[in-house]
Amino acid sequence: MTAIAADPRLSGRKVKRIAFDAETIATRVAELGAEITEAYPDGELLVLGLLKGSFIFLSDLVRKINRPIQVDFLVAASYGDAMVSSGNVRLLYDPETRLEGKHILLVEDIVDSGRTLNKLMALLEERSPSSLEICALLHKRIADELHYDTRFVGFDAPHEFLVGYGLDHAENFRHLPYIASLQ
Ligand code: PRP
Repeated sequence: MTAIAADPRLSGRKVKRIAFDAETIATRVAELGAEITEAYPDGELLVLGLLKGSFIFLSDLVRKINRPIQVDFLVAASYGDAMVSSGNVRLLYDPETRLEGKHILLVEDIVDSGRTLNKLMALLEERSPSSLEICALLHKRIADELHYDTRFVGFDAPHEFLVGYGLDHAENFRHLPYIASLQ
């Protein structure tokens, strides 16, 4: 832990606990890629990454999907600089790719309250995809309000504020190769 406590990427903050190290994440992402490959034997598959939090997960995941895919992004924001979800989900970028008739896989870094997914899934359903599923790296399992199944889940997440592997606090720490809570 000493080496990680001194991690120069943390701008003086200290890791309280590493929830998922880089190797554990890589193993699970490879498994998810295999699950996704098997789940979509045919049809066009559009993998939609929800930015910004999913950017590292998405880039690792798509390289483990062993079939043709297209990739596009959605940009939404809900937290701002706070450590709790505000529930105020704003869509800042809408995919330009056609969604109609395609299998859509929405890739999210973490499901917390579920409000982001409720809003985005409702928007995507209106575009008449042939199927619409969610893949989340982390799921806190507290999303009582979430109206949609999360078909592919990497890990159940501890109920702590997590950073790293795309997850931020006020835009910091996204580049950590592990997922941790900070002191
Ligand atoms: C975070 C996270 C999820 C969402 C989850 O995004 O990346 O998208 O909140 O919270 P919820 O289930 O309570 O809606 P954020 O708004 O912080 O934007 P970011 O992806 O740019 O970090």
